[in-house]
Amino acid sequence: MTLHPLAPTDFRLLWDWMQDDPDCNLDDDSPVTVEGFCKILESRLDAGEIVTGIYEGGEPIGAIGYAPSTPDRGWLHGICFSPEAQGTGKAHVAFQHFLELREAEGVRLINAAFYVTNQRVSRFLSKSGFVPTDVRYGPVTQHGQPVDVQVMAYTPQE
Ligand SMILES: CC(C)(COP(=O)(O)OP(=O)(O)OC[C@H]1O[C@@H](n2cnc3c(N)ncnc32)[C@H](O)[C@@H]1OP(=O)(O)O)[C@@H](O)C(=O)NCCC(=O)NCCS
Repeated sequence: MTLHPLAPTDFRLLWDWMQDDPDCNLDDDSPVTVEGFCKILESRLDAGEIVTGIYEGGEPIGAIGYAPSTPDRGWLHGICFSPEAQGTGKAHVAFQHFLELREAEGVRLINAAFYVTNQRVSRFLSKSGFVPTDVRYGPVTQHGQPVDVQVMAYTPQE
């Protein structure tokens, strides 16, 4: 397994993975086409975010977005693995590696925000050492209905 920037030619694949369970990743303000999604990814990269691709045998199996706020803190900005990779433990291995890379860069706080309905990512992040810090009540809608957002935080142990 290797981690390196997600190739632009793999952006469409990431969009396809997200369609497996759209309510995990998308709300009513999210792009509705793959073209719109690719444009947003490009603008995020222009703004200094990183989108790490996880590759196995040269094939992409997942991606992790990260938006630095300062050199030592930032926000996760999307984590998604292929339906085939989910539930295999590969996402855990990749995410540990991703966290180690951020720590080695001097990152000391990583926040994550996700729809409260996504219990799978909640458990995934908890196992990786994230703790709940906040709930935002109804900042987004899905299918016209307000959805609460859970915030969690990770601080590397010194
Ligand atoms: C979130 C994600 C990266 C987690 O990786 P994963 O390989 O699926 O992780 P796991 O299989 O270890 O599942 C995490 C936990 O959720 C549980 N789980 C699995 N499916 C679940 C479901 N439908 N509802 C509730 N819990 C679920 C698992 O049992 C596991 O809990 P446990 O470790 O206590 O047994 C992956 O599922 C994914 O890419 N999901 C789609 C995109 C997404 O939701 N991204 C987050 C939005 S920011």
